[in-house]
Amino acid sequence: MAKVKIGIIGGTGLDCPDILENRKEKIVSTPFGSSEIVEGSISGVECVLLARHGKSHALSPSNVNYRANVHALKLLDVTHIIATTATGSLKNEIKPGDIVILDDFIDRTKSRVCTFYDGSEISGVGVCHIPMSPAFDERTRQVIIETAKEHGIEVHQKGTAVSIEGPRFSTKAESHLFRSWNCDLVNMTLVPEVILAKEAGLLYASIAMATDYDSWRECETAVCVEEVMATFKKNVAKVTQLILAVVPQIAKLDWSETIADLKKLVNGSIMLPNQ
Ligand code: ADE
Repeated sequence: MAKVKIGIIGGTGLDCPDILENRKEKIVSTPFGSSEIVEGSISGVECVLLARHGKSHALSPSNVNYRANVHALKLLDVTHIIATTATGSLKNEIKPGDIVILDDFIDRTKSRVCTFYDGSEISGVGVCHIPMSPAFDERTRQVIIETAKEHGIEVHQKGTAVSIEGPRFSTKAESHLFRSWNCDLVNMTLVPEVILAKEAGLLYASIAMATDYDSWRECETAVCVEEVMATFKKNVAKVTQLILAVVPQIAKLDWSETIADLKKLVNGSIMLPNQ
């Protein structure tokens, strides 16, 4: 059975390394820049924690070095990524504090490199037309959903997030537009992380927390940072509990075939230049 190693990408309010035992901080150099990570373990399973916005939350969503982060996890032999993300809810039934295990996304970012194969000197050779349906690793998603059930943690089992450029929040008109597209949530960091993880052959799932109702509800004031942080603080224990429970469940399973299938998909998606 192939050994698993879990990368945990912590979003806003969820990047505290205390969840790891035997912590060791490291800076990992990659061709795309360096990435600060913490190595450690959860219930004896090797893990790597990465604070998406940097240790002091200094990076705006547009300036996060997503390629360095994902490549660093790959260099450390990570097999799975469990990402966490703060999101705005676009549906009445997804309330602030609720957890959603995402199953799809729409990309509304504007200025991010979304591939490791962009023709630059440091990129991979060729063009990678990676299929993004399904957008997330379904097996990992199911383990998270089953674990949540076993621990009595309520989650929405699917949800589509629209990823916007930010750092500003959406206007009311934009928020209504995303609702008309039947999106469930809005965030700023899912893209390109989810795409790069797939190109890198890493099994990626996302635990999203709704922190606000974005800007569409007539009866609410529009989202602000204070609200996002307050909701996160109040509900962070739920997400932490879920991650602590999920990691050993993932480690119990044999992922060899799932990983091999993804590698095959990636290899088959790369078009090499004519010799
Ligand atoms: N992150 C948390 N709430 C958000 C919102 N309403 N829009 C975009 N990103 C968010």
